[in-house]
Amino acid sequence: MKVSVLRRKEPDKEPYWESFSYDGPEENTVAGLLDYINYNDDIINDKGEKTTRIGWECSCMQGMCGACAMIVNDRPVLACEAFLKDFEGQEITLKPLSRFPVIHDLIVDRSGIHESLKENNVYIGEYRPPEDKDFEQDYTSAKCLKCGLCIEVCPRYTDGRKFYGAPFANDCYLVASRNREKSGEISEAYDEHFKSECAYDLACMKICPMGIKLTASMKKLNTLKRETGENS
Ligand code: SF4
Ligand code: FES
Repeated sequence: MKVSVLRRKEPDKEPYWESFSYDGPEENTVAGLLDYINYNDDIINDKGEKTTRIGWECSCMQGMCGACAMIVNDRPVLACEAFLKDFEGQEITLKPLSRFPVIHDLIVDRSGIHESLKENNVYIGEYRPPEDKDFEQDYTSAKCLKCGLCIEVCPRYTDGRKFYGAPFANDCYLVASRNREKSGEISEAYDEHFKSECAYDLACMKICPMGIKLTASMKKLNTLKRETGENS
């Protein structure tokens, strides 16, 4: 199987394609394939030339950390959950997520997701939930990996300066739900950095590997806002 990777040595260097021949197990995932290619002492491309190891990130290898998010055959996926059998007979193309600055090869800088949360005080602080807390929705929302796949497919996301996308909205609900006293402040940030721009395309929900129902978080946050006297 031919595997082509859009590589980049450093952030300010030009990207270039490099191809490899993969002869490893067919039942592998894309993450397993990258491991297989990188495992050898000498990394050889499909022209027989010696090259460098392919840069990519992983931690859990079981869809739980979000580090391996990348674009496989034009589909944003978690590489450790993308099986080669689903791309049978095709060339595999691997590209870094396009909405984040590229650091090296398939590694991108997603720190902007966390920075937007920090800048807007979207963190829990003291645990002060309302009495009628929705544990099920809380549990679902708390699964967010900050992998950025939803941002990759969002039609409204541009440079991340004003509109922060689904992970931000999701955490706004989570924090407001766990600390009622912060819900006023959180609502303002949510309105400014999510609600005012969201086109309700919901591509984010379809792609989310954790099955997070953003619309449910939005609805619950609106209910919390009404209960605390904020506009919904
Ligand atoms: S909402 Fe889903 S797709 Fe978006 S960052 Fe969180 S886990 Fe990833
Ligand atoms: S390595 Fe953790 S989600 Fe893929």
